[in-house]
Amino acid sequence: MDRFLTADDLAKTLRRDVRDGLTADPKTLPPKWFYDERGSVLFEEITALEEYYPTRREREILTARAAEIAALTGARTLLELGAGSGEKTRLLLDALGGTLRSYVPVDVSGDFLSGAAAAIAADHPGITVRPVVADYEQHLHLLPTGDRRLVAFLGGTIGNMAPAERAGFLGGLRATMGEGDALLLGADLVKDPARLVRAYDDAAGVTAEFNRNVLHVVNRELAADFDPGAFEHVAAWNAAEEWIEMRLRSTRDQTVRIGGLDLAVEFAAGEETRTEISAKFRRERLEREMAAAGLALAEMWTDAAGDFSLCLARPA
Ligand code: AVJ
Repeated sequence: MDRFLTADDLAKTLRRDVRDGLTADPKTLPPKWFYDERGSVLFEEITALEEYYPTRREREILTARAAEIAALTGARTLLELGAGSGEKTRLLLDALGGTLRSYVPVDVSGDFLSGAAAAIAADHPGITVRPVVADYEQHLHLLPTGDRRLVAFLGGTIGNMAPAERAGFLGGLRATMGEGDALLLGADLVKDPARLVRAYDDAAGVTAEFNRNVLHVVNRELAADFDPGAFEHVAAWNAAEEWIEMRLRSTRDQTVRIGGLDLAVEFAAGEETRTEISAKFRRERLEREMAAAGLALAEMWTDAAGDFSLCLARPA
């Protein structure tokens, strides 16, 4: 397993993110810290909720298009960024079987990767599985290059990036791509705001618990004393930016001590800390942003309901 990111690097990034985010106005915490063991389980539960359509829709598209993706790309290497989507990976691996020689799952968590990699290697004896521990916002240039790579970034996670970060990410990725390479990108689409809000504020409260999980993570990793029960989950559609925002609203005036940072943070009653943006796209925006990064949108498939998209792009 290649490691470009150590536990120590991650700990440092968390410290910086929490210090910067909670001393800013308005306060923010980045979504990457939702996903400890409990957060990953909660996210899995979210993907099974009736209200949360993206996972189901993307699976529908992949099932319908996997053979076409294989024919169009002739991929020899599948490089998956944020390799958390076991079932979708299998769909792709099975379809790409004819040409595929290696699978490179990339994730910030090595614990998760080695188990997933071993399971895939066992099921696909003809394929070399080479997991890489890396942060795709920092280490794109270190990932294995080579002939006919298909870089998959699924699930709509690109929506977690603001426009400037997306530009940096797409440009950085493009810089690593050769002529025969392709990008397979899952992107959620703009739709009725009421449906979007429901997808991020489910009736069973799983997303609320997922949102508050970041406070549990900060408590454990940075010796903080957040009372997660004193923060309410908020999901709101930002029509100007066309993204969903998740926030945690303080239910009272309170001071939280973060021992590991030697920091005390005051929250006013009703004050909101933004914990995630999840951008929703239209074709024109995807095309424009890809073009700006030197990528040409070759295909954009959607599910039958037109909820979600899977885009195939190549160096322009
Ligand atoms: C994993 C980033 C794609 O933005 O829909 C689910 C995370 N947040 N419910 C998304 C999430 C709240 C999810 N991504």
